[in-house]
Amino acid sequence: MSGYPALPEGIAYGGDYNPEQWPEEVWREDVRLMREAGVNLVSLGVFNWSMLEPAEGVYDFDRLDRIVELLHSWGIMINLATPTSSPPTWFRTAHPGARLVDREGHVIAGGTRHSFCPSSPEYATASQRLAERLAERYAGHPAIAMWHVHNEYGWANARCYCETSAEAFRDWLRERHGDVAALNAAWGTTFWGLTYGSFEEVEPPRLALPGQLTALQLDYARFSVEAHIANFRRERDTIRRFGDQPVTTNFMIANCVAMDYWRWADEVDVVSNDHYLEAVRAENHIELAMAADLTRSVAGGRPWMLMEHSTGAVNWQPRNLAKRPGEMRRNSLAHVARGSDSVLFFQWRASRHGAEKFHSAMLPHAGTDSDLWRDVVALGAGLRGLAGLRGSRVEAEVALVWDWESFWALELEWRPSVDLRFRERMEAYYEALWREHVTVDFARPGDDLSAYRMVVVPSSYLLTEAAGKNLRRYVEAGGHLVVSYFSGIVDENDAVHPGAPPGALRDVLGLTVEEFHPLPENGTVPVGDDGLTGRIWSERVRLAGARAVHAFTGGPDAGHPAVTRHELGAGTAWYVATALDPSPDRAPGVPEGFRDLDRAPGAGVPEGRRDPGDPGDPGDPGDLGGPAGDTGTGAERDLRALLRAVLDLAGVSRPRGLPDTLELVRRGRHLFLINHGEEPVTVPEVSGTGMLDGAAYTGSATVPAGGVTVVEPAGDA
Ligand code: GAL
Repeated sequence: MSGYPALPEGIAYGGDYNPEQWPEEVWREDVRLMREAGVNLVSLGVFNWSMLEPAEGVYDFDRLDRIVELLHSWGIMINLATPTSSPPTWFRTAHPGARLVDREGHVIAGGTRHSFCPSSPEYATASQRLAERLAERYAGHPAIAMWHVHNEYGWANARCYCETSAEAFRDWLRERHGDVAALNAAWGTTFWGLTYGSFEEVEPPRLALPGQLTALQLDYARFSVEAHIANFRRERDTIRRFGDQPVTTNFMIANCVAMDYWRWADEVDVVSNDHYLEAVRAENHIELAMAADLTRSVAGGRPWMLMEHSTGAVNWQPRNLAKRPGEMRRNSLAHVARGSDSVLFFQWRASRHGAEKFHSAMLPHAGTDSDLWRDVVALGAGLRGLAGLRGSRVEAEVALVWDWESFWALELEWRPSVDLRFRERMEAYYEALWREHVTVDFARPGDDLSAYRMVVVPSSYLLTEAAGKNLRRYVEAGGHLVVSYFSGIVDENDAVHPGAPPGALRDVLGLTVEEFHPLPENGTVPVGDDGLTGRIWSERVRLAGARAVHAFTGGPDAGHPAVTRHELGAGTAWYVATALDPSPDRAPGVPEGFRDLDRAPGAGVPEGRRDPGDPGDPGDPGDLGGPAGDTGTGAERDLRALLRAVLDLAGVSRPRGLPDTLELVRRGRHLFLINHGEEPVTVPEVSGTGMLDGAAYTGSATVPAGGVTVVEPAGDA
């Protein structure tokens, strides 16, 4: 890793800059307005391959040279892109073998970006050659703060099914499995007699009749991630030969299913992410918070960069709603609160041509006499006040387990129910914790979890035996674990763990599941005596050490456990055998098809702090009404109430009595208060200085409706 970008000012502000779309006189207006808005970093040339290399091997850096000098002369730093996500038309023409082929065997046409095969040797050569030319020319330039390789690996070409990819896949399989007998054993090919005689017989998981080997599909998903990473590495290593600026590529952490960003994180010098809201979704700021927490976690807790988001509407949703007043500011500051050291947008100036002309920008078609421009200028000014935040970290006491392999595996065909969706449960648990004002990290199931007071496993269908043991060790050492249904079912090859489910979690949960009883569409099942309602799932739990906290009171498993608790070593493991919702009468949103582009298939907590006798001990944690003094109403006896009981048992600190429209996050010493509600909120016990407005707070802070307050505590507070 080459270190962290050396930007001139604290929080980087700016966006994608595509000057090749404009005549030169517009560039001069651009830089002047950039300064007016407080822009200090632009991602330059993300899509300018055809400008730099108009014909194969013919280079023309003249315009780029002039743009770089212009930006430099105005003191604007550059995040220089390699434009390799959009090869020129000459590349398609000269190298037809490098064209992307979809699962149905269609050769994907040109006229848009990304339409190349990630395993193509011709693409590898051409992209590396261009990266080399760029690096040798610009790596020494003082305006280049960092490198932005490619754009959103896997955006639309996550998996290619051409013959070149098939060959590369076979090589990858040889490496992974050694010999074909091992492959057959791992994939369980005796089923339906699908045994392979040699690696040559293996085809990619192209369009097939139902029932295609799921282990084949999973391995193809893994192989495809590695193919993209190999492309990134080639460019990154080429650039590193010429300079030591940090190299990144923009992830799509919450919106792209096909990449495993835990794998990617090790490859970049700084993690950067693009985030777009699903505009029509209610309370979509909760999903934003989840994406930001996941990005920070993938970055290993280090500060990260928000590489793209939007000032207003995007252009690719069915109805592209504009942001409401104040929303761009709230969104931007929420990313910063959760660890981003930048606020960058797609894009600087709205395009006149092409597919994205109705996408918002920092400088809209309407120009500078617009509310949007005034908001952009005001945000830039506000961010200057936050310079001191740069580099500081966010601490969390709770972790959610997120594993992309499990995501892929769960959503392959022929599961017990189509309602089993990875993000559905993930978002339900995240939302319940968000409403409790709990900041969470995300973790892999095999990670060292000992720093967390509480670990939640909302959806880990695929869980290796080793990961199951890791979770057991975590509980035995005093951790508090909450597991949702249909977790710990299969191993890395999608084979059911031997014995009764959940094989990888039987011991830690102290139970077995005799039979699954998924519910009919929109079906519900009553749980306990307090009006809890389960959706999606019911199952027959047999206790083997755990005790029932609640039973199903109706449905196929009436009288059998629905929520259980297992004391193990110094900790507890909870199990929830149905889909409880995060707030009364509200199922979490399921981002149906939302950018689902290729549906696939901290510091240690001292031991004593996990003591159930800590303040906040709810007494009998079987009571889901929350701790004494917390006025949980009957209607709140839902997933949130369950988690509240475990949070208290685990001694997780959090404010009480605040409305759940207020987002509260600590970054380093600073307190972010983001009011998503329509009423002002007064937060007690706040003293210090408002970093955005210089206000002095002595004892409390009132955050206006829709407003954001960032408080730097007085002294060492
Ligand atoms: C991103 C992409 C940008 C732009 C943006 C529009 O996925 O990186 O180039 O297309 O979406 O929302």
